[in-house]
Amino acid sequence: MTTWSDQAIIYQIYPKSFQDSNGDGVGDLNGIRLRIPYLKALGVTAVWLNPIFTSPQVDNGYDVANYYAVDPQMGTMADLEALVAALHAAGLRVILDFVMNHTSDQHPWFQDAIHSADSLYRDYYIFAGQNNRRPNNWGSFFGGSVWAEDPAGSGQSYFHLFDRRMPDLNWANPEVRHAMQDVADFWLAKGIDGLRLDAFIHIAKAPLEQDWPTAAGDDEPVIAEPFFANRPQVQDWLQPFCQHIKADYPDALLLGEAASASVDLAAAYTAKSSQLMDSVVTFRYFTDRPVSNPQLPAAYQPREMDWLAFKRVQATWQQTLVAPPTLYWSNHDMARLATRVAHDPIQARSLAMLMYLQRGIPIIYYGEELGMQNLQLPDPAAFADATVTAFVAQVEAAGGTTEEALAWVNRTHKLPARGPMPWGDAGIAGAEAADADGAAAAIGATAQSTAPVAAGFTTGTPWLTGRAAAGATAAEQDQDPTSLLFFYHDLIALKKQPLFATGNYQLLSTADTIYAYRRTLADRQALVAVNLSAAPAVLQLPLAGMARQLTAGVVTRHGDTLKLGPHAGVVLTTR
Ligand code: GLC
Repeated sequence: MTTWSDQAIIYQIYPKSFQDSNGDGVGDLNGIRLRIPYLKALGVTAVWLNPIFTSPQVDNGYDVANYYAVDPQMGTMADLEALVAALHAAGLRVILDFVMNHTSDQHPWFQDAIHSADSLYRDYYIFAGQNNRRPNNWGSFFGGSVWAEDPAGSGQSYFHLFDRRMPDLNWANPEVRHAMQDVADFWLAKGIDGLRLDAFIHIAKAPLEQDWPTAAGDDEPVIAEPFFANRPQVQDWLQPFCQHIKADYPDALLLGEAASASVDLAAAYTAKSSQLMDSVVTFRYFTDRPVSNPQLPAAYQPREMDWLAFKRVQATWQQTLVAPPTLYWSNHDMARLATRVAHDPIQARSLAMLMYLQRGIPIIYYGEELGMQNLQLPDPAAFADATVTAFVAQVEAAGGTTEEALAWVNRTHKLPARGPMPWGDAGIAGAEAADADGAAAAIGATAQSTAPVAAGFTTGTPWLTGRAAAGATAAEQDQDPTSLLFFYHDLIALKKQPLFATGNYQLLSTADTIYAYRRTLADRQALVAVNLSAAPAVLQLPLAGMARQLTAGVVTRHGDTLKLGPHAGVVLTTR
């Protein structure tokens, strides 16, 4: 049985940066509602909202202080209800980010837990050790140890896989599992169409009394993924959770974030028999080539894509998962497509074509359809990230400059990928007029200087300060049939054809500079071929009876020969 979610085309909205409706510089729910016509025109069928719950915003909402309330910066519960109703009226589904591995340290459970070692909520979290000694050497994804001292001074430490202000929940405790089930029920009862299960692969931890083996004398905390990712209990604990949801809401989309899951684990998480997720997002799609400057530290150095590895990974995931794979080029945790990979407008088109016409569920990160790039944040401190500070110091110590390090971090870090949507119109009452020449402009320095790029996003000062690269705004592209935005309209319309929504996928054997695949459904066939290189490429295939549906760049065809210009791509189908 297919459901809407098998064929969903999802648009990922980072609410803080999409549309501000009240001039405080932070995007909000009413802003999203005002942009529904844009989403409709684009043709997407669902939106995923990054976290909107009450939060101190240590990690932009991934630190939840109240799972039952909307963050005041985003609006009110009534605003959310109005947004959901308006999206549904427009035929769009909505899924929310469900942060299940940890809470904010401001959450009442944690506040109570640190009030005393006898707190009823103590066991909602993971406390261990004594005399303020770390129970093990495991490292946090956000730098440093996973352990932080109990603020109440018990001598124990609490576990945090992310920021120290984001304590991990203890999913081994059945009360926690019930409490999180209640949260999910609450939102689904409000009419939400699904949940994105944030960092779900981390909810189970190995026994704590063991260090990750390191070289002698190395006592730095170390990322010990096998001890806290994809452990068997993840499936044991989530199965009742997911089954319970599906019993009441069989059509709800459960989209798991499985950053480090192998294809086999992803297959297990999405197998119908496991009754867990409908689809998962992996971070393993993109393999980087070695750094260009091995003399300098690697962490945030930009790298080219390894296309051969990419082809292998795509073909493997396409052929292995029975459930629909997710199809995406970027999200709020990585640099934008136009900054990371697609360095010219033709490539922006051909890569979109290549990705989204495969089998699976496209997830398009807001602004990608405009060719939006990473912002340039003004200095290392603007990242508020210990790993950035450490990287910049290492580059300097190795003889590089601060400017060089900063330019690299701006190209590779997740934060500059979260900039304000360049609407460029007065879509909201009182917004400034569009910047006429589309030149680069400062965001956030003063209200005056923000006007050009922030126009249409906010009348105030955007929450994230940085320079935006030049680029055509949504308003400009909307008037230009040759724009990337129009191309995305056409591409999404094509994706909705049954051939692309549900057809089989087969990789075609080509030169390694080409990625080509066939989709088949009953007696219809499609061929998608993309030149991954900047040199012209030639492809020989039986093309009789096939007509061109979509082209990026220069593509010529003579009989069964296709000539693809630099980075060009083409989609052909039988009638
Ligand atoms: C997920 C989110 C990321 C967040 C982390 C902690 O990986 O995508 O943005 O920082 O979980 O919640």
